[in-house]
Amino acid sequence: MTWVEQLRANEVICRRAPSAHNTQPWRPEYHADEIVIGVDPARSLPDSDPTGRDLALGIGAFVETCLIVAADLGLAVGAAPGPRLVPAAQRYATPFAIADVEARRVARGPYEPGYVDDAVIADLGPGIVHVASRELVADLEVADRWLFGTPAVAVELRDWLRLDPRHPRYHLDGLTDRALALSRFEARFLSAALRAYPITRRLGLAALLAASGRDLLRYDGSVLVLLADGDDRVAAGRRLLRTWLALARHGLAVHPLSQLIDCPTTAERLAERVGGQPLAVFRVGRPLAEPVRSARR
Ligand SMILES: Cc1cc2nc3c(=O)[nH]c(=O)nc-3n(C[C@H](O)[C@H](O)[C@H](O)COP(=O)(O)O)c2cc1C
Repeated sequence: MTWVEQLRANEVICRRAPSAHNTQPWRPEYHADEIVIGVDPARSLPDSDPTGRDLALGIGAFVETCLIVAADLGLAVGAAPGPRLVPAAQRYATPFAIADVEARRVARGPYEPGYVDDAVIADLGPGIVHVASRELVADLEVADRWLFGTPAVAVELRDWLRLDPRHPRYHLDGLTDRALALSRFEARFLSAALRAYPITRRLGLAALLAASGRDLLRYDGSVLVLLADGDDRVAAGRRLLRTWLALARHGLAVHPLSQLIDCPTTAERLAERVGGQPLAVFRVGRPLAEPVRSARR
């Protein structure tokens, strides 16, 4: 088998890469001696991610995941602009393996109180800023209100929610009730409220749903912010994946809170707070319950 065929045979592992709303927007095209990582436009989020920031980050995370898988298979593969995967002189140098890719998962339930060690953060390299979770309580509420109160954004989220195990795409993509750590009651409530949207919006749904997330950051915990370093969002997505895997090696899970950078008001405040342009923001800690394995096509 050629390296392309070997990697293709392991695509199912590469697809464990994370993506916003679990859209899995990558579309690998296999050629004789290269793999072009295309984007499936039907799997982008034009209303919640109008600049394509999260789309590019997800593609970058996929590229990095492919490189880790290739390296673990003993294949000499590198990344090139496009992005593309191309033959390389040697295996990609990475501390991570297929086992890390398989074990990685986002954890949205409660975390043990406690801050991430400074030494762990320093090891992640430059461009990662720590913010105490309590400092963002009020902003998360503003961002959640904006999310649920902006029809196009809320409807796009609704389309990627799979809140009932009988949903035909429950095991394929999107965000399940279990992945979101919702109780049966919460899932039913959210489902009914979003189904009746935008009527419920007028009834103050936004405030209600925002209030439900109010306690998420009300503990002594850590939020990390990845800052932009140039314009290459795919490279930033690769960095994001490496960061999440490095944290996982310390037993630390992540929970992205992208609404903080999607909502214009809180985005501006966060940029001021961290002194740079935030590309990704996520809660970090030791989850109290084992996070679920997310769906994949
Ligand atoms: C760029 C990016 C942005 C994300 N933003 C959010 C977010 O705002 N809220 C959230 O709960 N999860 C967010 N996620 C996590 C995805 O929903 C998650 O990766 C996907 O559901 C697959 O689950 P897994 O990572 O556990 O495999 C984001 C992921 C990426 C790559």
